[in-house]
Amino acid sequence: MKPTALSLSGRERTFPPDEIIVSKTDPQGRLTYVNDVFLMVAGYTEDDLIGRPHNIIRHPAMPRTVFRLMWRTVREGREIFAYVNNRASNGDHYWVLAHVTPNLAADGTIAGYHSSRRAPRRAAVERVDALYGRLRAAEIAAGDGEAGMAASARLLDEVLQGEGMGYDRFVLGL
Ligand SMILES: Cc1cc2nc3c(=O)[nH]c(=O)nc-3n(C[C@H](O)[C@H](O)[C@H](O)COP(=O)(O)O)c2cc1C
Repeated sequence: MKPTALSLSGRERTFPPDEIIVSKTDPQGRLTYVNDVFLMVAGYTEDDLIGRPHNIIRHPAMPRTVFRLMWRTVREGREIFAYVNNRASNGDHYWVLAHVTPNLAADGTIAGYHSSRRAPRRAAVERVDALYGRLRAAEIAAGDGEAGMAASARLLDEVLQGEGMGYDRFVLGL
């Protein structure tokens, strides 16, 4: 069921502002729970998703550096807010503002992760789309490996320094 080539329709899906898309994963990022809104918006069944890596809904336009920042933050036991463009099963895309948190076990180790996502405001999507486009272009220009990730991380730092804030405050201020 792994797609060989990622088809993209160019169509955007939206979801109502009072709905929340929820998923939970194990410590490796494999899905352990998805709610009905997730299934409806992403266009999958529970059977398609449970046990699969969360990157099943990864959109190829998303900069790698954003996921690296996300993983680094939650692995350290901290929360992160991030804008993410996701790919639905039919190739449509949908933007979310995600709040990703680690679930800590009683002994303090990480038992898994949790993400709740709301529909972002249009003006925020436009700004993030432009920023992510620049980051992704920097990654591709540098070969889309580690060098690309370093280049886009530098670019993100520059943009955030220009704004005088970290990624979280930037995201929440949009
Ligand atoms: C709780 C949680 C939620 C996540 N949600 C998403 C998501 O909605 N979309 C997405 O593309 N990646 C999400 N990720 C990140 C993926 O695990 C993965 O890092 C990302 O899709 C990039 O895939 P790649 O490393 O194969 O390029 C999530 C990770 C965690 C732990």
